Amino acid sequence: MLNDLLQLLGTAIWFILPAYMANATPVVLGGGAPIDGGKLFRDGRPIFGAGKTMRGFVAGLIAGSLVGVLQGVVAGQAYTYAMLGLLLALGALVGDLLGSFIKRRLNIPRGGAAPVLDQLSFVVFALLFASPVMLPGWEVILIILIITPPIHLATNFVGYKLGFKSRPY
Ligand code: CTP
Ligand code: MG
Repeated sequence: MLNDLLQLLGTAIWFILPAYMANATPVVLGGGAPIDGGKLFRDGRPIFGAGKTMRGFVAGLIAGSLVGVLQGVVAGQAYTYAMLGLLLALGALVGDLLGSFIKRRLNIPRGGAAPVLDQLSFVVFALLFASPVMLPGWEVILIILIITPPIHLATNFVGYKLGFKSRPY
């Protein structure tokens, strides 16, 4: 029983790793020109806001894809993992962007907290983007959805303590 659970946990983390990398990298390497060019939506608020930058997006895409390439080498299935890494990273970044778009529409400022949305939008979209190539079983997906919010909050707290983030969440 405990063995099964640990195996599911390992499978979940292994599968979603490129998305985690894509989501975390911009915190360290992001900055500079915002993706929305500083433009406002028709409601007069930013489209995505200054927290979503081109550099962060590209860095996240490269770092997440690289994890996929490394996984392919380790697992001996270069093509599948490279493809999965790219899709998981792209999905994570698009999901994060969409989360910010929704936050701005809800009048939540850049950096403001949006529980659930902040922790899960990236991972849900990573799974959606990966689905044409491969989805793990429902138990593994469930574990991913359960473990991601606490992992996200914990890594953000570490990022805050290390001085990469101005807020602990
Ligand atoms: N970041 C970036 N480019 C991205 C995503 C994130 O540069 N595409 C960087 C920004 O410095 C951002 C930090 O990573 O401040 C943390 O990301 P996140 O918490 O998603 O952004 P917030 O600043 O909280 O903005 P929002 O309210 O829109 O989520
Ligand atoms: Mg945030």
